[in-house]
Amino acid sequence: MTRTQKPARTRFFCTACGNEQPRWFGHCPACGGWNTASEAPPERATKGGKGGSSAAPRPGPARWVPAGQAGRAGEPVPLASVELAHAARERTGMREFDRVLGGGIVPGSLLLVGGDPGIGKSTLLLQLALGLAREGRSVLYVSGEESEHQIRLRARRLGEVPPSLLLLCETDLETVLEAAARTAPGALIVDSIQTMSRSDLEGGPGSVTQVRECALALLHYAKGSRTPVFLVGHVTKEGGVAGPRVLEHMVDAVLYLEGERYQHYRVLRAAKNRFGSTNELGVFEMLETGLREVANPSEAFLSDGNRTEPGVAVVASLEGSRPLLVEVQALVSTSFYGTPQRVTSGFDPRRLAVLIAVLERRVGLRLGRHDVFVTVTGGLTLDDPGTDLGVALAIASSFRSRPLLERSVALGEVSLSGELRRVSRLDARLREAAQLGFVRAGFPRAQLQDAEGCGLEAVPLTTVREAFDLLLGERVAAPRAAEDPA
Ligand code: TYD
Ligand code: MG
Repeated sequence: MTRTQKPARTRFFCTACGNEQPRWFGHCPACGGWNTASEAPPERATKGGKGGSSAAPRPGPARWVPAGQAGRAGEPVPLASVELAHAARERTGMREFDRVLGGGIVPGSLLLVGGDPGIGKSTLLLQLALGLAREGRSVLYVSGEESEHQIRLRARRLGEVPPSLLLLCETDLETVLEAAARTAPGALIVDSIQTMSRSDLEGGPGSVTQVRECALALLHYAKGSRTPVFLVGHVTKEGGVAGPRVLEHMVDAVLYLEGERYQHYRVLRAAKNRFGSTNELGVFEMLETGLREVANPSEAFLSDGNRTEPGVAVVASLEGSRPLLVEVQALVSTSFYGTPQRVTSGFDPRRLAVLIAVLERRVGLRLGRHDVFVTVTGGLTLDDPGTDLGVALAIASSFRSRPLLERSVALGEVSLSGELRRVSRLDARLREAAQLGFVRAGFPRAQLQDAEGCGLEAVPLTTVREAFDLLLGERVAAPRAAEDPA
């Protein structure tokens, strides 16, 4: 948000992306949307008339900085003198949730939980509320989407409901904030931010202005009272949280609950986290009695046991601090189109293109006239470059119709020259594989030392080509002979 010189002027927002413009527009210069301009309310904070000059004290951010913490408002303080105690975290009682948050809830933080309709956002937050309440904290759960009765029914499935969990079905934000001020809960949950509105503002609930202003008011409440506030956010077709872009900037963390398409597993991951890493991921299973934390997610992402079909490879991906064994499936078939198809799910298509090029040039697999499909099981997305080798092997295995050696994992980042680069925390990944019953692991030769004592047969590798020779159990023939697997 840029502050204009004349704050009393009306401004316009794009309802699609939240872009702000001083005058009306038919075509948003930021996102390209048509007819998305919406009038923003005049700024109340500067209603003192002409007081908008840059010298005047601005009521902006200072409104939510906890007072008395660091001397006078507007006065810089030595960083070293800021108390560290304020970063203390509180456990939620849900280990997977804590993990994604970076170890627990930071007091006064504002968190946004997004996800497709029906994925389990309300269930997750009600479970969180119940968990906190059972530990003796008071929690205010505000719903603008469901009736008291509906929520009571859901809570019944989730177990015992402690008296310190308060429920308010309300869409008027002022009423919500008054109730919060009155009850001073240990945590506030608002389901969802798109249903909240302020009567003094124009636009219906869910409009850019309402979402922005309501979130801002809740931000002030969170920072002022040091109460953690959880917002549920709807997502758009494109997968982002609906409403203005600023919403994501305003909050301390954006968490996504994903995975509806993949049976009953749900993955919670942070897209943004001011208090922790964005790599951590929590895995849940949706049961009749709510979301259950999955203690060993590797088991969830491997299909039943010992698969030795061509095109199937197991990779040990590092998700945050946690190694996860994930099955990758590839299918290579003769293309009937001029341009062969390369389709992926859960894997970056550009990295697939690189791997295919490496397989062509460095190993001699003629994939140029073949469609290549790659799927990652469990609805996960593999971002970890250490999974390159496994994906490359899955493709080659399908192409040559040769399965990988039984109970083997392959690890390594594939470089353009076809050589294998080191992967981070190899030992942790190998230990996870050994625990799940794998017996053999291919990994970059340079890391032979890291693999000591992991309990697997080590297959040190220098190049992708070597991986084919040793893990497919067959020497890959010269390019000319590799016309078709048939
Ligand atoms: P919900 O939390 O209402 O989703 P969201 O708030 O993201 O729209 O969850 C809806 C789905 O979860 C619904 O299809 C029913 C299912 N569910 C269970 O399977 N078990 C349960 O214990 C609960 C409460 C819901
Ligand atoms: Mg809901």
